[in-house]
Amino acid sequence: MSAKIYVPRDAAALSVGADAVARAFADQIASRRLDATLVRNGSRGMFWLEPLVEVETPRGRIAYGPVSADSVPSLLEAGFLEGKPHQLCLGPTEEIPFLKKQERLTFARCGITDPLSLSDYMSHGGYRGLERALKLTPETIVEEVVNSGLRGRGGAGFPTGIKWRTVLQTSADQKYIVCNADEGDSGTYADRMIMEGDPFVLIEGMTIAGLAVDATSGFIYLRSEYPHAFRTLRRAISVAYDKGYLGPSVAGSGKRFDLDVRMGAGAYICGEETSLLESLEGKRGQIRFKPPLPAIKGLFGKPTVVNNVISLATVPIILDKGAAYHRDFGMGKSRGTLTIQLAGNVKRGGLVEKAFGLSLREAIYDFGGGTASGRPLRAVQVGGPLGAYFPASLLDTPLDYEAFAEKKGMLGHGGIVVFDDTVDLARQARFAMEFCAVESCGKCTPCRMGSTRGVEVIDKIIANEDRQQNMVLLDDLCEVLTDGSLCALGGLIPTPVQSAIRHFPEDFDKPAPAAPLQGTPRSQETQSWR
Ligand SMILES: Cc1cc2nc3c(=O)[nH]c(=O)nc-3n(C[C@H](O)[C@H](O)[C@H](O)COP(=O)(O)O)c2cc1C
Ligand code: SF4
Repeated sequence: MSAKIYVPRDAAALSVGADAVARAFADQIASRRLDATLVRNGSRGMFWLEPLVEVETPRGRIAYGPVSADSVPSLLEAGFLEGKPHQLCLGPTEEIPFLKKQERLTFARCGITDPLSLSDYMSHGGYRGLERALKLTPETIVEEVVNSGLRGRGGAGFPTGIKWRTVLQTSADQKYIVCNADEGDSGTYADRMIMEGDPFVLIEGMTIAGLAVDATSGFIYLRSEYPHAFRTLRRAISVAYDKGYLGPSVAGSGKRFDLDVRMGAGAYICGEETSLLESLEGKRGQIRFKPPLPAIKGLFGKPTVVNNVISLATVPIILDKGAAYHRDFGMGKSRGTLTIQLAGNVKRGGLVEKAFGLSLREAIYDFGGGTASGRPLRAVQVGGPLGAYFPASLLDTPLDYEAFAEKKGMLGHGGIVVFDDTVDLARQARFAMEFCAVESCGKCTPCRMGSTRGVEVIDKIIANEDRQQNMVLLDDLCEVLTDGSLCALGGLIPTPVQSAIRHFPEDFDKPAPAAPLQGTPRSQETQSWR
């Protein structure tokens, strides 16, 4: 039987030479006349081991990594095709502790199957959720999602089933399903990984959403920085059309669902659902006033479900295994699994899918192995650029929406960025404010003007210019941003700033630096065109 070799096609693996590794295997297979085939799979999400190459053996899949093109001949000589030892051999893939300790529901197939093979998808449980959904009424599908406890994974954690119920109960001649694949949070990549590694699960989830709310058309709004995901989605959608899983009669049911991908406009604010809808309609990505909610008046003024990639990609397993199966994972009101993305100064960066409730410490140390630098951990930012900076003393906080809110933090999209003791939190606070100034959509004054003034005030604090007065001014400014901003970009930017001040006051009380701040001209630049 022909040996199967898996070399990932995921962007993270490509960035460290996976294509060259695949070419080296192809050349060696040809020149040595080996009976072997290459599969370009998704990533298993262990980035420090990429390119992680696997071979199928009677003992299961055996992993090797990180593999370079140069190491391919020596691997083959050592008996790679039989899974024999080599200095890069990691043993059976499923036994690698980072993977073994996970609970992969949404990512069950990612890295295992060929992302563009529908038969691979089906033989690993794919389209079973849709099959069941087609036998249910829209109301029953919605109730199943409500009962599963699924909350939106895009950041706000709003119950997905409740949103769907609103769209279902709003009558209209046309409704839409929009997938938010803008994935702008720092240190996040779960959406990208699933779109590149298991695109059919998103297509299936969106199709089920269409059946549930009576929507016949869907769009994936994809961030412009994801060209590989764009190509993979396009090809997977075309396969789904060819095989009758999209189009006028989904799986022969007589029910229509059409799907297309649109490239984003390259702005963080286009990830906010109303800006996203503006951008999808071909306009400038700017916030819309709410109400009306997109569920009532969304894309082209029609009732629209807007959900994150992971929310939608989790729906097939809920429909397949039932609401209780999903609800049984997690803690408190956070049900199911969280796709944690470890990034920053961490030894083992990668994707961890685990039931809500493990602590930040377990995520960073048991999975991540601590800091990459080996220096003491000093701060962690969870939930993207609007998330709080937590000190080491908060590492026992469980990863749970409510537990994080209690500590004035948020889980967001599950991104965890680790910093060691060389970080300067005053500069991180400045970075947060500057991020807001650069990414502000400009619609409301507190954010448009306030963030630019905020950078200037933090610069003065760092330079020790009237420090006490400027600290008071910064506090006032944060209050105005929180209370007066039209959307959560301006409204939440005080979170990283104030958490840095609260937990790391010593960084705001240091002698002025001898050299001017790096990046300072940016605020002057923004000032001139505002
Ligand atoms: C500034 C800003 C940026 C956002 N960026 C994203 C994003 O990149 N992806 C995402 O899914 N949600 C993002 N959101 C949240 C969306 O507005 C919305 O809540 C989400 O798409 C709803 O899907 P969910 O219920 O499945 O989470 C952002 C929100 C704000 C305020
Ligand atoms: S808070 Fe900022 S991003 Fe949000 S509407 Fe106002 S200006 Fe736009």
